Amino acid sequence: MSHNILILKGDGIGPEVVDVAVAILQHMGLDLNFSEAKAGYACFQEVGDPIPQTTIDAARAADATIFGAVTTPPDIPNYRSAVVTLRRELDLYANLRPVHSLGLTGGHYREGLDFYVVRENTEGLYIGQEEDFGDYAVAKRLITKKGSERIVRYAYELARHTGKRKVTVVHKANILRLTDGLFRRTALAVAKEYDEQYGIEVQELLVDTMAMRLIKDPQNFEVIVTTNLFGDILSDEAAELVGGLGVAASGNIGEHGAIFEPVHGSAPDIAGKGVANPFATLLATVMMLQHIGENAAAQRLQSAVAATIRQGVLTPDLGGTANTARVKEQIISNL
Ligand SMILES: NC(=O)c1ccc[n+]([C@@H]2O[C@H](COP(=O)([O-])OP(=O)(O)OC[C@H]3O[C@@H](n4cnc5c(N)ncnc54)[C@H](O)[C@@H]3O)[C@@H](O)[C@H]2O)c1
Repeated sequence: MSHNILILKGDGIGPEVVDVAVAILQHMGLDLNFSEAKAGYACFQEVGDPIPQTTIDAARAADATIFGAVTTPPDIPNYRSAVVTLRRELDLYANLRPVHSLGLTGGHYREGLDFYVVRENTEGLYIGQEEDFGDYAVAKRLITKKGSERIVRYAYELARHTGKRKVTVVHKANILRLTDGLFRRTALAVAKEYDEQYGIEVQELLVDTMAMRLIKDPQNFEVIVTTNLFGDILSDEAAELVGGLGVAASGNIGEHGAIFEPVHGSAPDIAGKGVANPFATLLATVMMLQHIGENAAAQRLQSAVAATIRQGVLTPDLGGTANTARVKEQIISNL
């Protein structure tokens, strides 16, 4: 079955890393139709909008989108972020971050990890409702039953399809009694259903305990599900356990679209030098292939990426000496 894949390269190293992903997908001989649209700061300079409606429509129409990275200029009032706009416009409510050990060494790296962080992507403190009262300011935190139910259900479906047996629900309901109280109650109702039907166990942790346990015994987690801000923080903490920014990939998934991207930004300091690390984008591409049901291809690409890392063919940010082209060549030979 043919799939329509939208490519949004963005700014800085975005085009460099996405070009590697597209070249590898083409080499793999899959039945994919690629189209390209514009987003980001260069797009803003060209057409006056960092995320034109045509791009939003193209992302909605595609089976999946691969997004590189965009530069956010600090000094343009009311500048709208391309990726945040896409998440909102397409209602991409699930932010998925795999945490898989791939054989890196050093830093905080831990071998043998294989879990997911599922973050609610549309509510919480990220709704942008802040008010300034001079000597104090207030931010609103939105939690809905619908939003909580669909993200927890997403986490359980993920557990079911990936053979995981436990979902950890993370909240701070002892303090945020109304908002996280609602999230917790809703989560536990979904958990009961999945326990009865599929025997998937639920674990509840307060977010501060979760932050400690991620360092102390990360091997004990399978799927972690939580609200927006907690998920934002915990997913970056978890990423450090398997190699950090250079291998961190994410999916933004909803009923009307799915966008897969590296977690890193446009890295203007190294753009154009040919040394950008494409691993995170390739791991986002693995997620994209899983999303469209190309599981064998996803496994093949993930194995080739892992083999390349274990062979030590790494870019300078990961402590190696290979450039982007050399990494691409090695991955292709490992496919
Ligand atoms: N999703 C996104 O598009 C996204 C995410 C974060 C930041 N940004 C934007 O990116 C721009 C730069 O932000 P920043 O410098 O804070 O973060 P960054 O992630 O772009 O870079 C941080 C550091 O990591 C390095 N780095 C990042 N990705 C790399 C890669 N693939 N290979 C090798 N080295 C890599 C960079 O060279 C830099 O030293 C800003 O305009 C920021 O707003 C965009």
